[in-house]
Amino acid sequence: MKPIQVGLLGIGTVGSGTFEVLQRNQEEIKRRAGRGIEVTMVADLDVARAKSIVGPNVQVVDDARKVIANPDIDIVVELIGGYGIAKQLVLEAIAAGKHVVTANKALLAVHGTEIFAAAHQKGVMVAFEAAVAGGIPIIKALREGLTANRIQWLAGIINGTTNFILSEMRDKGLAFDDVLKQAQALGYAEADPTFDIEGVDAAHKATIMSAIAFGVPVQFDKAYVEGITKLESQDIKYADQLGYRIKLLGISKRTAAGIELRVHPCLVPAKRLIANVEGAMNAVMVQADAVGTTLYYGKGAGSEPTASAVIADLVDITRLHTADPLNRVPHLAFQPDAMSSLPILPMDQIVTSYYLRLRVADQAGVLAKVTGILAHADISIDAVLQREAGEGESHTDLIILTHDCVEAKMNQAIAEMQQLSTVLAPITRIRKEELN
Ligand code: NDP
Ligand code: HSE
Repeated sequence: MKPIQVGLLGIGTVGSGTFEVLQRNQEEIKRRAGRGIEVTMVADLDVARAKSIVGPNVQVVDDARKVIANPDIDIVVELIGGYGIAKQLVLEAIAAGKHVVTANKALLAVHGTEIFAAAHQKGVMVAFEAAVAGGIPIIKALREGLTANRIQWLAGIINGTTNFILSEMRDKGLAFDDVLKQAQALGYAEADPTFDIEGVDAAHKATIMSAIAFGVPVQFDKAYVEGITKLESQDIKYADQLGYRIKLLGISKRTAAGIELRVHPCLVPAKRLIANVEGAMNAVMVQADAVGTTLYYGKGAGSEPTASAVIADLVDITRLHTADPLNRVPHLAFQPDAMSSLPILPMDQIVTSYYLRLRVADQAGVLAKVTGILAHADISIDAVLQREAGEGESHTDLIILTHDCVEAKMNQAIAEMQQLSTVLAPITRIRKEELN
């Protein structure tokens, strides 16, 4: 049978890995897919560089629309990134009846509803395994492997760049900016690295996973997003002393009132496997009623790990493209007419536990006042750590771990504690997840 023909839009980090792995493993992939999968056309702004990657047998153009217009191309792979031209190209490819593979989580988290509806109407597939957690087959696991389950929550380290930064800062004492530069040089970071460090990239991925886990539309605009730029190394040290690691987590939970969807730094017990995921590695924990807890671990970024997921999608489409569209796996796991309208909860309604660090005057009665405010708000304390004031110091750090409470109560309690004359600086609050 004639090989299926693939057109690549963008041959940067992920595109070049995809081309290389497809070439290297072509026989193995053909045995799995049932027919060959060949990249026959590539579009990239830098034609000379693209030609140097693909050689003379692949047509290279600088206009992505020429790939979409080519009637011989069966699958268009969008590896440009961003919400701009990538969105137009994906919608145009769908309109032209092409199946689409994309690694573009930003695009799907923001415009997924429109894109999946267009694909559904046209009877084509949009596959996006590479969009979440790089090489880890988490989309496949959530959408197909766990299909028997009622999923309760998921929590993941889903941004390699920030996990790399936190690991290097903690283990080697390196400065934030230096480690970010390393992550960029290694090809982990987004074109705009503020997406990584401000939690936006993780929120894109959490949004997509949440939609698949709970059968709700993608709603990135409702996600709570907080990155790692305000983290201080002293909190990493205090967390360590208390038996915790600080990780940037993407979390989504189903509650009776709605869905929690949030990304923020989090204290995680050091004994949990996920707390020991280091460097650019990713891991996602999923809690579901029948199977219990499952954990997915692997490389979340980089050229070939991400290519591995792109090619898995190419194989899926090669196997399934002749199937009746109604019998294919729905894009978001649930049938389009069976989506849930459960709302995404505002942040002040989420329930979690907290780490608080207060810079306080080293005076008698300070602890009693602080704990009094927490008691009055019905917030129960789990642990207290007070740093001994240094010689000549008139202030010290008071660290408090709480049990679960609703965020609105904690906001109120922090505002009250902040009013105390003995609290000398803005209170640091980091959320804590026991993940048990
Ligand atoms: P790169 O920036 O390395 O590659 C993008 C490529 O697209 C570049 O070669 C760029 O050319 C080219 N390009 C830009 N505009 C156009 C256009 N209009 N037509 C054709 N080509 C164009 O990005 P990545 O490979 O890192 O990322 C690609 C996608 O994969 C993004 O959505 C990203 O979020 C996602 N992703 C990336 C991962 C990673 O580890 N890097 C992991 C998982 C997902 P030029 O350089 O000349 O501008
Ligand atoms: N910038 C992303 C990360 C790439 O660091 O995880 C993988 O999606």
